[in-house]
Amino acid sequence: MSTPTALVKVMTDAVRKAARGLTRDFGELAELQVSRKGPADYVSAADTKAEQVLFEALSAARPGYGFLGEERGLIEGTDKTHTWIADPLDGTTNFLHAIPHFAVTVALEREGQIVAGVTYNPATNELFWAERGKGCFLNDKRLRVAARRELVDSVLATGIPFAGKPGHAQFLKELHQIAQRVSGVRRFGSAALDLAYVAAGRFDGYWERNIQRWDMAAGILFVTEAGGVVTDADGGADPLGTGTILVANTDLHPLVLERLRVAAG
Ligand code: IPD
Ligand code: CA
Ligand code: CA
Repeated sequence: MSTPTALVKVMTDAVRKAARGLTRDFGELAELQVSRKGPADYVSAADTKAEQVLFEALSAARPGYGFLGEERGLIEGTDKTHTWIADPLDGTTNFLHAIPHFAVTVALEREGQIVAGVTYNPATNELFWAERGKGCFLNDKRLRVAARRELVDSVLATGIPFAGKPGHAQFLKELHQIAQRVSGVRRFGSAALDLAYVAAGRFDGYWERNIQRWDMAAGILFVTEAGGVVTDADGGADPLGTGTILVANTDLHPLVLERLRVAAG
């Protein structure tokens, strides 16, 4: 059993508050799906609102911390050692299509290190959270990465580049290398939840290129605290800096990395 610290409580409260609005908006999407204008504008309003709620709740609890959010960019704080990194709605395309797989995610960076993270899927009421050195949890259950050792038994998650994104040809090469060797590859549409699912042992690994700091900040800590290995997609030490990521347990990580290297030629 886990005892969340005051810091995690602040983050959890903020995330749940932001999620309340999203849940309301999600419920109205079915109507909007059939309206002529479509739900796209509505969704961009929903995530801007959710980010504002996050920002206000976190700033009220920890005045002076900086805030990096997907919608508003960086808001510098007076305390230069602490920055929140937040995506108010990760899985926007799912949300837009009324698919209940999306999350509010926030991490705290202290002097360049992610020290706490919370990712919440309101549709399933699953709250993933971690604090550096204290483990990773789903609600009140401690998490460990999966123990599978062979690619052939593994299910890996990834992100498929979509319209306007680079890296389509490279992705297809990677998929070709990996799909023929594993039990399955999944594209669920939320990087934040993909990482949480690896920490929970649901996915055996996950890789993606061209994602953002707020997509992965909390999840990097989850996987580390759940005993997994985190690198960028080329095996380097800086996923946040490169915007690429590969996570898996210690047995599978080198096997997936080898396949990505073969794909790179
Ligand atoms: C997206 C999701 C998706 C990933 C994209 C991200 P958004 O975030 O995390 O899984 O493949 O690269 O942009 O746009 O839903 O916040
Ligand atoms: Ca995102
Ligand atoms: Ca987003």
